[in-house]
Amino acid sequence: MTLTPWWHGAVLYHVYLRSFRDLDGDGYGDIAGLIDSLDHLESLSVDAIWLSPTTPSPDRDWGYDVSDYTNVHPQLGSLAQLDELIALARGKGMRVLLDLVPNHTSDRHPWFIDAQSSRDSAHRDYYMWADPRPDGSPPNNWLDDTGEPAWQWDGATGQYYFHNFLPEQPELNWRNPAVHREFDKIMDFWFDKGVAGFRIDVANGFYKDEALRDNPSNDERLPGVLYQPGKHGQQTVYNFNQPEVHQVYRDWRIRAEQRGAAGGEVPLLLGETWVLHPSQLADYYGNNDQLQLAFNFPLIFADFGAQTFASLIDETFAGIPQGACPIWAGSNHDLSRLGTRWAAGDIAKMRLIHTVLAMLPGAFGLYYGDELGMPDSDIPVGLQRDPLTLGGKNGSWPRDNARSPMRWDDSELGGFTTGKPWLPLHPDRSLNVAGQDADPFSTLNYIRSLLALRRQVHGGRLNRYRQLAATDTLFAYESGDARVYANFSDGIQTAHPVWTVALSTLGKPIAAAGAYELQPWEAIVALR
Ligand code: NOJ
Repeated sequence: MTLTPWWHGAVLYHVYLRSFRDLDGDGYGDIAGLIDSLDHLESLSVDAIWLSPTTPSPDRDWGYDVSDYTNVHPQLGSLAQLDELIALARGKGMRVLLDLVPNHTSDRHPWFIDAQSSRDSAHRDYYMWADPRPDGSPPNNWLDDTGEPAWQWDGATGQYYFHNFLPEQPELNWRNPAVHREFDKIMDFWFDKGVAGFRIDVANGFYKDEALRDNPSNDERLPGVLYQPGKHGQQTVYNFNQPEVHQVYRDWRIRAEQRGAAGGEVPLLLGETWVLHPSQLADYYGNNDQLQLAFNFPLIFADFGAQTFASLIDETFAGIPQGACPIWAGSNHDLSRLGTRWAAGDIAKMRLIHTVLAMLPGAFGLYYGDELGMPDSDIPVGLQRDPLTLGGKNGSWPRDNARSPMRWDDSELGGFTTGKPWLPLHPDRSLNVAGQDADPFSTLNYIRSLLALRRQVHGGRLNRYRQLAATDTLFAYESGDARVYANFSDGIQTAHPVWTVALSTLGKPIAAAGAYELQPWEAIVALR
């Protein structure tokens, strides 16, 4: 018998742990704080919690520079606390997903320290080393995420090593089978602990062009190559999205299914598939034999609009294999929050976006704070903590603006910490859990109703999707026993839901079947 995977219809709540809740008063959110806040997640019908990296790290990239893959960062807690979290969350029907960072390590990881010690070291080939060009310059023109050359000179051993992110994040060499074996062990370690799966960092980046060809500029068009403009004037054609990565996922999927066959639960492999085209996204599902979920970056990068959303949703369903599960999410810790990026701070638009995305079949990703309607913060350069985007380096957007600590009450520090918060809180004190909990018309209570309805309609299922309307101003679709109508305009529009209107973003009461007048930026869910 094939059991329906638990992530069909699931809500995945993304906790940026350092900003969630601090119980020990050091100003950084921690596992104990999350444990203390599980009731909040339960009230949102959450099925799984994805934690930003919990592993030890020198924190050049806040955990995305791992120095030990099988331990817990002391600032965040301990292995015992993580065990406790997994058990307590399970008791409330929630699973825990960790963030796995297989693309690179910290330069303080013992593998890299050894690799750097000599050309003959046991771990030298764990990383990507290359000789300079005859004039001593880097082997090719690749740029890192900050816009600087992606090759770091290592004077002691006379070679460059490669980094797509900071120089302190050397990239692993996935052409070396030993690296595969290391990650098999790491994944088993966590699965044996009851971790339900991984969000896989830089899932489209493990392999680079073997010939190290120069990337084309954004002005060039390479015949037969998808156009992928990058943010620093260069297309990332050869340092991301190489075909070899798909074999990694086929292998991991087999191992995941084997766990299921052995009587356990099949772990979830959820990719950070940072691609521009729906067809590339679909490639990561393979023939239903690679990742089970792949974040939909083509949608995340889309402009806000009824037709744009409708066509990207259509393209996603058309692209992924039959029976594959999409995941819909509008915010994460690297990008401007949907409340700012799409909704420009307008609460009506935020609710509309959540409604449109949350009622789609598949999985739904909710980023902490979005349930309160939190927009981006505007953190002054002097208080920014992210080395990758500090001070808007090379035109970057400061990611700290999407990482402001969660407010639990309306006090100055929001109940987040008793110490000095590592990042400033958003100045709007109304964006807090206790206050919104007490207000029946708050965004928090709206999102709770929406996600409860989602669970009723989609929980444990992968319903079919059918578009009903997609004009400049109206987007409507049907899935399972629900129809969604969203008014993307400042005018009133009539919708014909026929079915009973169970939920309105404006908090209007349940309405009988029939025609319905949608107010500006109102979205409704009607049930059969
Ligand atoms: C993607 C992560 O989401 C981001 O925060 C990080 O900086 C890069 N990968 C590098 O690990």
